[in-house]
Amino acid sequence: MSENNAPGQDIVVELEQLRREIARHDYLYHTLDAPLIPDAQYDALFRRLEAIEQQYPQLISSESPSQRVGSEPLSGFVQVQHEMPMMSLAKVFNGSELEDFEERIKKRLDSDAPISYSCEPKIDGVAVSLLYEEGVLVRAATRGDGVTGEDITHNVRTIKDVPLRLEVEHQGKATPPLPKRLEVRGEIFMSRSGFDAVNAEAAKAETKTFVNPRNAAAGTIRQLDPRVAAARPLHMFCYSVGIFEQDEAHETPKTLSETFALLQRWGFRVNPERAVVTGAQACLEYSDQLLVKRPELNYEIDGAVIKVDLLQLQAELGFNARTPRWAMAFKFPAEEVATVVRDVEFQVGRTGTITPVARLEPVFVGGVTVSNATLHNMAEIARLGLHIGDTVIVRRAGDVIPKIAKVVTEPDAEVTLVDVQMLSHCPACGSEIEAAGDILFRCSGGLICPAQRKEAIRHFCARGALDVDGLGDKLVEQLVDTDIVKDVADVFVLQREQVEGLERMAEKSATKLLAAIEKSKSTTLPRFLFGLGIPEVGEATALSLSSHFGSLEALIAADIEALESVADVGPIVAAHIAHFFANAENLQVISRLREAGVHWQDSEVQEKSDVLAGQTFVLTGTLEIMTRDEAKAKLQALGAKVAGSVSKKTTWVVAGPGAGSKLDKAVELNVQVMDEQEFVGFLAKQTP
Ligand code: IVH
Repeated sequence: MSENNAPGQDIVVELEQLRREIARHDYLYHTLDAPLIPDAQYDALFRRLEAIEQQYPQLISSESPSQRVGSEPLSGFVQVQHEMPMMSLAKVFNGSELEDFEERIKKRLDSDAPISYSCEPKIDGVAVSLLYEEGVLVRAATRGDGVTGEDITHNVRTIKDVPLRLEVEHQGKATPPLPKRLEVRGEIFMSRSGFDAVNAEAAKAETKTFVNPRNAAAGTIRQLDPRVAAARPLHMFCYSVGIFEQDEAHETPKTLSETFALLQRWGFRVNPERAVVTGAQACLEYSDQLLVKRPELNYEIDGAVIKVDLLQLQAELGFNARTPRWAMAFKFPAEEVATVVRDVEFQVGRTGTITPVARLEPVFVGGVTVSNATLHNMAEIARLGLHIGDTVIVRRAGDVIPKIAKVVTEPDAEVTLVDVQMLSHCPACGSEIEAAGDILFRCSGGLICPAQRKEAIRHFCARGALDVDGLGDKLVEQLVDTDIVKDVADVFVLQREQVEGLERMAEKSATKLLAAIEKSKSTTLPRFLFGLGIPEVGEATALSLSSHFGSLEALIAADIEALESVADVGPIVAAHIAHFFANAENLQVISRLREAGVHWQDSEVQEKSDVLAGQTFVLTGTLEIMTRDEAKAKLQALGAKVAGSVSKKTTWVVAGPGAGSKLDKAVELNVQVMDEQEFVGFLAKQTP
């Protein structure tokens, strides 16, 4: 291991081959999502590389894949002058502004010929410039003010999407000759799922969480210690080329879309949602489709970027002071907006849980007007440090439920802030509110509480349960408020006269509702059980219980021990179930439901097996061979768990067509994925 231990030529050659090989697998795995070799084989290559470098430290060079793990921290940032300024984009917000943009271009070019555009998502991250000399990454810099940025090479080296050295071979073919100097620009970002994981970890460690993925990416990239970046899930999509010094003898791309194809062959990641279209109208259609797709993407975007595809035209059009004339950002409605908390009210859930809800000054965010946001519980209010009167940031990202991300009231703002206090009595029935555990509060009114009754009825008639078509929230509200319906059983004996007397209930809609109720009386045991709303018994547990006990009678007769022997049922759930069926009122409601004609076929008791014990499956996308319920039941009968979201604990993801963010997350966390066809074969192999 000493310095005079000079490596032989064979070692130098092997090392070089290893580096190329590992870089190629990094690229296949991280950039193309198409690994060629199993992880173990990759690890073996990597270990061999590390062993050689450990033995001959003089051979370590900055572009070795081993150097991605993060070097020693820097003492400060070095400023970088961009040779070509990094511009920003002018914005349009609607179709007519986009048409004006095209008009201006045509006028300037003095031509009415159709124009092709390269359209891409506008990633909400951090702009970077990567400089390669003779194919080797020599510098990465932030955009800064566009003229002067900061050197962040130490952090960017840790990002797997960034080639440390350009690929000389792609899919078995040599790539075009490497340019002398190449500057690639793009956006560094954190995926949504990566962001959730980083924040979950920070919350656990009681350190500061990030407000959104962009802040997380920016905060990570501007760290002096590259080990922080190495541990965070950063990615990069490239979107343009700045400096491109190539021998004149070699051809260079004529369009931006050809440039992307070239960058991809050299090992960069370019956005798979990009498209080339002709004319402003088609750009608008692209943006509309992208907006629809937005919730499925595992990264945040704030619009589409429309760029003239032909590089020759780009050159003719040139630049304004700060923006190119050949590109435009088509901005989507903001997903994050500031507003004021007017009040905090309390809602009563199905089991009496009291949930604080913020009433907001209405704001337009993520394409809809938001005037309420759940605050979950009192601990969340404390965490946010929220008062009535505060200015807050409302986020509506990907998911549809808006949430309050943080309080941003200026310290010297002249506003009256009022503390949020838990109520002592239920706002719906006046019963006392009791603490239930550390952070939850519950109304003690039980079935005398109309709010709890309404929620219980909604739940029983909802889609995964008895699925009564047309029994919406407003109708349940009226039925309970007028005392026509006191509990779920009353719904199934509703008479025409009772229904027709209600608001907005003409003869026709009454007929429809009564028919829907009649139809839903024929149900299945899992649906019925789920509908009962026993705490902690969701659809999956209801299904396990049904296939384990086969009939409601057997379930009611089961003691705690028998309940706990069901896959998915632990001591807490078992106690809830036993408690529910020990209650005479509940049993009475069940028998009135049966008298009213609610019926089902008993489930076949499935032979239980434990071949998949300890394994967790996630089903996503559309299943075409079997229903999701069937797939779940089959897995559970084999002892597997079926979860709703992908985590490190997931063993397999079964992905059908249309799979979105769960599939992305599986790829990111390196969880094994199979399609439905493979799944069917897999099941067949497990069944004795
Ligand atoms: S092109 C000269 N393409 O948006 C044009 N920018 O205001 C250079 N951005 O700071 C930008 N996704 O960081 C381009 N697909 C994309 C982009 C993108 C995100 C950012 C970029 C820039 C800002 C433009």
